[in-house]
Amino acid sequence: MAYGQFEQFIRNMTRVMGAVNTKLQRDLTLRTRVARRFSMVEVAQFLGVDTTYLTRISNEDPAFPEGEKQGRARTFSPSEIMLIRAIIGSNKAAKRPYIHWRKPGEPVKVVTFGAQKGGTGKSLSAAHFAQYVNLHYGLRVGVIDADPQATVSLYFADEDLPLFAHDTPTLADFMGVHEPGAGEVVDRPAEELDAIWQGTPWPGIKLIPGGANIQNGDISLFFMSQQSQVPVYRVLRDAIQKWDAGMGPKTEITDLRGPDGAFDHAKHEDALNETVDVIVIDQQPSLTLMQLNGLIAADNVVIPQTMKGFDLATLATYVSNIGEYLEFIMGFEADIEIGAGEHMVLPTIVQEQNNQDTDQILDLYRKAPREVMQVWYARSDAIANAAEEYKSIYEYMPPKTRRVSAQAFMTNANAVNDALVQKVWPDLPDRGFAKAFIEERWG
Ligand SMILES: Nc1ncnc2c1ncn2[C@@H]1O[C@H](COP(=O)(O)OP(=O)(O)OP(=O)(O)O)[C@@H](O)[C@H]1O
Ligand SMILES: [Mg+2]
Repeated sequence: MAYGQFEQFIRNMTRVMGAVNTKLQRDLTLRTRVARRFSMVEVAQFLGVDTTYLTRISNEDPAFPEGEKQGRARTFSPSEIMLIRAIIGSNKAAKRPYIHWRKPGEPVKVVTFGAQKGGTGKSLSAAHFAQYVNLHYGLRVGVIDADPQATVSLYFADEDLPLFAHDTPTLADFMGVHEPGAGEVVDRPAEELDAIWQGTPWPGIKLIPGGANIQNGDISLFFMSQQSQVPVYRVLRDAIQKWDAGMGPKTEITDLRGPDGAFDHAKHEDALNETVDVIVIDQQPSLTLMQLNGLIAADNVVIPQTMKGFDLATLATYVSNIGEYLEFIMGFEADIEIGAGEHMVLPTIVQEQNNQDTDQILDLYRKAPREVMQVWYARSDAIANAAEEYKSIYEYMPPKTRRVSAQAFMTNANAVNDALVQKVWPDLPDRGFAKAFIEERWG
């Protein structure tokens, strides 16, 4: 029998890779997940209050966490920051809202990060957006990893999360399209859908991890599209709606305090776990049926995009392919409303040293001021390093030599996410980070 060389090659590589430890760096990262702690000054910045006010509350309210003492200073974990926010936000004397959870009856938001091109910073942008709204607004976030590579999962997973385990449910299970042979979508009640979310070490952030069986979803959807009248483009949208109808918000801010005004820790914990305020979807670089579902489910689509000429050609392909799909869908279902919110192209990995990239942005922005963002992710040494460990800039603890560039990238990430928040939630108070970026770069 003639197998040719390829079969031999695959067999050899399988043997070699079986003996290589591919998990060493990953295990190290997962073991130290969110080890970073934040100073009183940093916590005050996340909350948008001044430090004196924060110190006063820490002395007055017995529920305020001790934190960890490092010398004279106290430091806090993301969970403690969330708790502090809830303590301040539920205080009857609070002058403005600090907790921006959606109210009972309000539907969950869905924000999808997608692009045709690989390596444009989709996963990095999605992870930073999720953590930014968690740290700065106290939002509860559900991250859906729609990529079998599971990159964004690596930003959130810790040792307890069964990542890459064969039976860990993925997006395909949430959508009920995990069995390639099945003729129809598996219908699960809201509680079962809810059980698919995995907890993460971030307070109020849950994850549906990526995994190989997302590809089964594509095969399954393809056969359904051939055999039956299943609207295969809106399976995720329907699953999210069904989950939301059963698992929407119940707790209100006022529920966090008892009749005597004491902070109720158990209620707060329940509230953090009962639902999410926004679902963030990280797409794989392509437009398969599974990825199409991520777009059709979205209120807002963000296209992270590098600005080089050839890369922009992929953006042209991407939008024109989506356009064709949309036309088909409208023909099938004329009154469907898709993507009710704002959508945007986010320039990424921008080289600011020469003007080529920024000129490209300027040109695109002039032609499409609504669609192209004025704020972008600049290329950074610090984040290339942080992302090797799958740590966001909010989590990364830079070595001394990288502190300056890490701080610069944090400022950059805050600006991008402040701009995204304004597009996704026009009613939320902005933090001025985007404005500062635009004044500095656009003059
Ligand atoms: N602003 C930046 N500066 C430097 N490196 C960056 C920047 N943004 C992303 N990167 C690096 O580029 C690589 C790709 O980033 P990321 O995984 O977020 O892209 P992606 O679009 O999700 O990729 P894929 O298409 O494979 O899903 C990573 O190594 C990341 O660290
Ligand atoms: Mg990715």
